[in-house]
Amino acid sequence: MNVRDSEHIIAELSSKENYALTQDVQEADLILINTCSVRERPVHKLFSEIGTFNKIKKEGAKIGVCGCTASHLGDEIFKKAPSVNFVLGARNVSKISQAVKNEKFIDTDINYDESTYAFGEYRNSIYKAYINISIGCDKQCTYCIVPHTRGEEISIPPELIVQEAKKAALTGAREIFLLGQNVNNYGRRFSQKRDQKIDFADLLNMISEIPQVERIRFTSPHPLHMDDKFLETFANNPKVCKSMHMPLQSGSTHILEQMKRGYSKEWFLDRAMKLRGMIPDVSISTDIIVGFPGESDEDFEDTMDVLEKVKFDQVFSFKYSARPLTKAAEFTNQVDSQIASDRLTRLQKRQDEILDAIADEKLNKEYEVYFDELRNNSMVAGRSDNNSLICVKGSEELLGQLLKVKVTNPKRAVLYGEIVG
Ligand code: 5AD
Ligand code: SF4
Repeated sequence: MNVRDSEHIIAELSSKENYALTQDVQEADLILINTCSVRERPVHKLFSEIGTFNKIKKEGAKIGVCGCTASHLGDEIFKKAPSVNFVLGARNVSKISQAVKNEKFIDTDINYDESTYAFGEYRNSIYKAYINISIGCDKQCTYCIVPHTRGEEISIPPELIVQEAKKAALTGAREIFLLGQNVNNYGRRFSQKRDQKIDFADLLNMISEIPQVERIRFTSPHPLHMDDKFLETFANNPKVCKSMHMPLQSGSTHILEQMKRGYSKEWFLDRAMKLRGMIPDVSISTDIIVGFPGESDEDFEDTMDVLEKVKFDQVFSFKYSARPLTKAAEFTNQVDSQIASDRLTRLQKRQDEILDAIADEKLNKEYEVYFDELRNNSMVAGRSDNNSLICVKGSEELLGQLLKVKVTNPKRAVLYGEIVG
């Protein structure tokens, strides 16, 4: 989502304010830092980065801080870093033109409704298009700062999404990547009342009707909203890529209750097994937090148990980080930091073994790959339908093509192969 926000900022500045991108910081008239605040470390990094930019930027160059940390810290950023020229929140991106023109501009209003704003056009890649389908988040997970930085959840009208997808597809994006904090909660609230109901499964079907769109991906769905209609649409619509992100967070039903996630270990396993049953080749990825307040050894074993049962194809695992404004930061049963680190190490080590075994099974298998990235050493990379990163020898002419690849050298994070058709 941050990548897409950055694309929106670039689009606005290049179409309305005559800015152009540069990779050379010393040449820049404007340095923008788009921030995350989901864990503590990136927030610290922000201030050290501002310090670094101050030393190397050219005379008179402006610095702007955007994104979730801007929403969260607001004018504290000016106090801590007086060289910053403006602060623009994650839900105020459309005000970027005003921000660059007004000294000490600040807008961090999390109630601002950008759900129907028509941003200018800009994409990092011509081969795939990120498209927001909602803003904000209505969940109140007790560890999470996002509802305090991105505000309440509002769905973007389906007509605007389809129009954007069509435009992107006509200019070369065969893959559409839908974005939202809770994509499968789509359609619950719009800024204007609508006569007809629509949900995420309906939206997937609408986008799949665009002839030039060949692949549809999305992130993040919420396990709580994985009803049968959603899973069946996911399984049966051939344009929907067979890769599902299922953020587990914890395998312990007790901890899930404390996190206010709204589902149990059993529900999560039931949904994952239903997916595996319907689509043998489906890949399932997840997010896991270890060391949430009150997590006992037993609770952690429940998380390890889900790891064994689901055999995730990718795991993003994090040590719990207490965040301001969140309920869990007030809990008195915080877990010892060393215990949390040890649990994280154990989980990551086991997951690496699982990934090695999964990779071994992929030797000699064939996948359809959509090539979209040029790498060093005359390699070209792309993703299989079920989201494996696949690399082959080749050059630019492969970009934008969907080709069959046989895996000859599977590694944990990348499958190397050769084109067979
Ligand atoms: N501490 C650690 N990880 C967190 N995440 C969200 N909030 C926290 C926190 N306070 C993780 C969750 C989420 C991912 C984007 O970041 O796993 O799914
Ligand atoms: Fe945060 Fe929970 Fe919303 Fe995800 S669903 S953004 S974890 S509050």
